[in-house]
Amino acid sequence: MNTKSYFGKFGGQYVPETAMFALNELESEYLKAKADPTFQEELNDLLKNYVGRPTPLYHAKNLSAHYGQQIYLKREDLNHTGAHKINNALGQVLLAKRMGKKKVIAETGAGQHGVATATAAALLGLECDVYMGAVDMERQKLNVFRMELLGAHVVAIHDGLKTLKEATTAAIQSWIAEIETVFYVIGSAVGPHPYPSMVKDFQSIIGTECREQLNALGLLADHVIACVGGGSNAIGIFSGFLDNDTTHLYGVEAGGYGIDTDMHAATLTLGKEGIIHGMKTYVLQDKYGQISPVHSISAGLDYPGVGPQHAYLFESGKATYIPITDAEAMDALVRTTRFEGIIPAIESAHALAYLEKLCPSLPANQTIVVNVSGRGDKDMHTVFSVLKGKKDEI
Ligand SMILES: Cc1ncc(COP(=O)(O)O)c(C=O)c1O
Repeated sequence: MNTKSYFGKFGGQYVPETAMFALNELESEYLKAKADPTFQEELNDLLKNYVGRPTPLYHAKNLSAHYGQQIYLKREDLNHTGAHKINNALGQVLLAKRMGKKKVIAETGAGQHGVATATAAALLGLECDVYMGAVDMERQKLNVFRMELLGAHVVAIHDGLKTLKEATTAAIQSWIAEIETVFYVIGSAVGPHPYPSMVKDFQSIIGTECREQLNALGLLADHVIACVGGGSNAIGIFSGFLDNDTTHLYGVEAGGYGIDTDMHAATLTLGKEGIIHGMKTYVLQDKYGQISPVHSISAGLDYPGVGPQHAYLFESGKATYIPITDAEAMDALVRTTRFEGIIPAIESAHALAYLEKLCPSLPANQTIVVNVSGRGDKDMHTVFSVLKGKKDEI
């Protein structure tokens, strides 16, 4: 057993034999790139001058006054292309190019990872196919158009619930069919080893910057909150604080219509150990081990699995995972917009919604960081349809 590929008992490589060669090649090429100053310099230069890093750590004074706490927002929404996904996509597409691949493929839910991969592929001159569920294509129309404009081919998936799980399965199948020439750019800290560790490394810039930005203010975070779909933005920011026992880490899952219904994607809250997309982790499943249908208003959180490191952090008690409903997230989206003039992505609004529950239980003036993983432009269509008719209430 390749013990490096596990976080406790979670992770691993649960893939057909035909994929093992590609995973071993990926691991050794990634480790070489990671240790190569030229690769790191090229990536850091792009992160600075193309993506616009470092992203600000913004002291949200109005939300702070409202909650009686000191609330800081890590502004991943200000990245080029509008979310944290570009940190990882650029890293993986640079690696694909270094490995001599001519084509990249990706899966996407909210479209942000698809847009980020299509962007990196355009920049670095690679062909790009993006697999996307037909339901997600409808609710994230603008991102579909952006990907096509960037030169990517968006492949509509009509299986099952037509969302992220089915898109991921289709991307894995197509990768295995063309494994020698194609590089699969996974969009979250999920999948078989080495993907969860590699994606964590590329996203850890969020946590590293955030810790430095707090240090410069003479602060250390008491609480860090991030939303969890597959878990890449959360593991990215958590990684800056995992060595510090006084910082409490919270991952916010999609509670959909409520966890007392079967319309949610609260994997750690209600799932059980299982295997999905090449990894051992928590999975929402029925008593026969069949993967359950999931629901979230946010396409990016609508996933029945979770990255294996989160399963480990959950079981070891290093991080706490909480469900937030669609309605609570939409309230938080409006509140953040009205208080701070920042329209978050619906995914990020789940993290912001947890402030309502956490803040009243705390002593005053604790330092709380919320990772604003993306901006809400892509969600205007959904926000409009939920809020129309409620104009007087907001
Ligand atoms: C803005 C935004 N935040 C969060 C997520 C969830 O992904 P992850 O848990 O990998 O950060 C997505 C996924 O598409 C997203 O677009």
